[in-house]
Amino acid sequence: MVLRLVFLGPPGAGKGTIAQRLCTAHNLVQVSTGDLLREESKSESGLGKKVKAIMESGQYVDDQTVSKLVENKLASLGGEKGFILDGYPRTLKQAELLESILENLGISLDAAIDIEASDETIVKRLSGRRSCSKCGKIYHVKNIPPKEEGKCDACSSALFQRDDDKPEVVKTRLETYREKTKPLVDYYKEKGLLKAIDANGEVEENMQNVEKALKELG
Ligand code: AP5
Repeated sequence: MVLRLVFLGPPGAGKGTIAQRLCTAHNLVQVSTGDLLREESKSESGLGKKVKAIMESGQYVDDQTVSKLVENKLASLGGEKGFILDGYPRTLKQAELLESILENLGISLDAAIDIEASDETIVKRLSGRRSCSKCGKIYHVKNIPPKEEGKCDACSSALFQRDDDKPEVVKTRLETYREKTKPLVDYYKEKGLLKAIDANGEVEENMQNVEKALKELG
């Protein structure tokens, strides 16, 4: 079965961690709009600088810019490949734009997985997060440390701490999520696509919960 999934959930709940493992297990492609935008923000272009400033503030990049990146990425995959949209859509407008992108490609979503964790868990996770500068693999200094400090297990590149993981930016990111993205939970519930996962536990436990939800899809 070709799986086409959306991952919802607050910053730091573990969307990227679960997405990376699920993609390996099911041969899916992780489409993380955060990663696509971070790549864009490295460019010295006007758009790159604008994206960088928005991300560092904890607000959302505009719907059209993000949706264009997703449209291009999904078109490059063709209709045959399964994927996880990690962190997209995040607004009702993006959800509507996604519907037309998928319709044009002749495909549809199988489920929207809502990965939920408490604020306490989120703050602990984000304050210790490290990511690989080359392959994007996600670590945590205490919970999921690399074998060698500061170095990626997979490709040996240097690990970095994201600028938007500073406590004051995390607060804004959580507020932005509640205001703009939380309504998508009801949006996908009404479409019969929602699966909610309690992601406060260990990674393995969270993975099992997601796998169970996927089995229920048939
Ligand atoms: P993005 O990069 O998508 O960030 P986010 O949604 O805020 O989510 P995170 O990546 O912070 O967290 P996560 O849930 O993936 O958690 P992770 O697995 O890393 O977006 C960044 C910015 O880009 C946005 O603020 C916005 O400006 C912009 N943007 C992106 N998409 C957009 C869109 N669609 N529209 C507009 N703007 C957009 O885990 C976190 C930490 O916890 C890690 O250290 C990990 O090792 C650890 N961990 C994970 N699971 C566990 C566990 N079970 N136990 C212990 N530790 C764990």
